[in-house]
Amino acid sequence: MAESSRIHSTKAKKLSSHLRLENISKSFGVGSAAETRAIDDITLQVEEGEFLAVVGPSGCGKSTLLQIAAGLIAPTAGTVRLDGQAITEPPPSMVYLFQQYGKSLFPWRTVIDNVAFAVEHRDGMTRTAAKDHSRRFLEMVGLADFADRYPRQLSGGMQQRVAIARALSAEPRVLLMDEPFSSVDALTRLELHALVQDLRAKQRFTAVLVTHDVDEAVFLADRVVVMSQRPSKLVRTFSTDLPRPRDSLTTREDPRFLQLRHELLELLLKKHDGMNPGV
Ligand SMILES: Nc1ncnc2c1ncn2[C@@H]1O[C@H](COP(=O)(O)OP(=O)(O)O)[C@@H](O)[C@H]1O
Ligand SMILES: [Mg+2]
Repeated sequence: MAESSRIHSTKAKKLSSHLRLENISKSFGVGSAAETRAIDDITLQVEEGEFLAVVGPSGCGKSTLLQIAAGLIAPTAGTVRLDGQAITEPPPSMVYLFQQYGKSLFPWRTVIDNVAFAVEHRDGMTRTAAKDHSRRFLEMVGLADFADRYPRQLSGGMQQRVAIARALSAEPRVLLMDEPFSSVDALTRLELHALVQDLRAKQRFTAVLVTHDVDEAVFLADRVVVMSQRPSKLVRTFSTDLPRPRDSLTTREDPRFLQLRHELLELLLKKHDGMNPGV
């Protein structure tokens, strides 16, 4: 990954970076009878170091929006900018964490070599240096003792921790996550939430999390935006002004947490009568 070396140069100028989605629309199958209007004129800004969660009903265009933000697919209209620069391909300073972590790990590589993949092609990075670097990130996710195992020898939650370690070992400025915790059990999910919060406190990356899990959004994010059903627009923004560090148990019992959860669920449940802007 020759691009990875550019991460260092982008890291150096850590000024007032932010990610801007400007008037993004996306239709699939344009011009055909089966045209699907997924996203309708969404404008969104993410500040440097901010944790933004995007929630919305299934099929509303969350993954599409995130892939557009990542430069993985082109919008039908609108522009994505990182530090003012229009994005037309995935920038090296962004990392995308997919929902299907099982697919994102290489089954033929050991855990440490999966993590090392993110950095081993950096200029001047020897194989030993790549392993040392990767070991630090495996330690952070509590998997140092599993470095020489293969992904299939780990549980789903452990595999997702390996994927998180690999994503963060690239030292991204922006981490984009598409429902990354949806396929692990409920307890593991709570552990992963705490882990991501902890890692963000240490690494200070900007995060965008797409999820249909309201609790997860409120627990992790600084701000939650709600998308309507297709063709989706942003219907509301919530500021999750809960103190940090947030605790897996007590934060979820905080009256402010419960209030936010209530308001978000109410909005999402109302989707059939009024949430859709009716375009
Ligand atoms: N490549 C594609 N071709 C055609 N339609 C697509 C494609 N990708 C997504 N869609 C459609 O766009 C809508 C939004 O999809 P998606 O972004 O995956 O929603 P979400 O992640 O919110 O569940 C859905 O109706 C989906 O069927
Ligand atoms: Mg999706």
